[in-house]
Amino acid sequence: MKYKKIGDILILDKNYPDEDFEELSKRHKVKTIMKIDHIQGTKREPVYNILYGNETETVNKENGCLFKLDLSKVMWSKGNNNERLRIAKLVEDGETVLDMFAGIGYFSIPIGVHANAKEVIAIEINPNSYHFLCENIELNRLDNITPILGDCKVETPKFKADRIIMGYVKTTHHYLDMAVNSLNEGGILHYHETVPEKLIETRPIERVVSAADGRDVELLKINKIKKYSPGVEHIVVDAIIF
Ligand SMILES: C[S@@+](CC[C@H](N)C(=O)[O-])C[C@H]1O[C@@H](n2cnc3c(N)ncnc32)[C@H](O)[C@@H]1O
Repeated sequence: MKYKKIGDILILDKNYPDEDFEELSKRHKVKTIMKIDHIQGTKREPVYNILYGNETETVNKENGCLFKLDLSKVMWSKGNNNERLRIAKLVEDGETVLDMFAGIGYFSIPIGVHANAKEVIAIEINPNSYHFLCENIELNRLDNITPILGDCKVETPKFKADRIIMGYVKTTHHYLDMAVNSLNEGGILHYHETVPEKLIETRPIERVVSAADGRDVELLKINKIKKYSPGVEHIVVDAIIF
């Protein structure tokens, strides 16, 4: 029986058995208890069930950042916790960062809080996520994040950056060409992919090299973020593109 606490909301695993949920809420000091069946579509929207309470908006504290979100409208992946902080710590002073699938600011907010970037351009297609991205910029009192409501396919070519984060999985490789085109010479790409274990060392880097289209690529790291499904890992490739 597993659960996770996000702000003051408890998310139970799908197979968590029925019990006295009011009593459970008191034990964990939460206002709402939910089950999230799955996250659907490109906008990554939860399909959920409320077991106790009715408020689904909360503020989650992580790595010294505040993330306001509505768990009935946008996703939160606890397993990406370390990756969110790892990226923030890599950003060097004065960098321009492009966060292509920004969500509620999963990467942009920690960068704003922990690094000293010149600008973080955060592109998000889901209006609900964009709403919380804007709220989280205010909540964390950040002044170097530019939120953009729109499709990466349309918005990315308008910018050049020293570092590009592609924090989305499944079809991320379809966006690789345009990410590389927007990356300054010697810039760093963080390319996410869900990949069968036996392909981890080959497929993601081959896709990056192919998108680089003749530009030199230096592989810095393949970082395992979490197990995605049986035999499939969520990984991120860090690479310099010259
Ligand atoms: C939810 S985030 C992934 C989780 C995140 N990496 C973390 O650390 O928890 C992915 C976001 O990409 C957004 N998205 C998907 N396709 C997009 C597109 N074409 N342009 C802009 N945003 C997009 C989704 O709406 C979603 O908010």
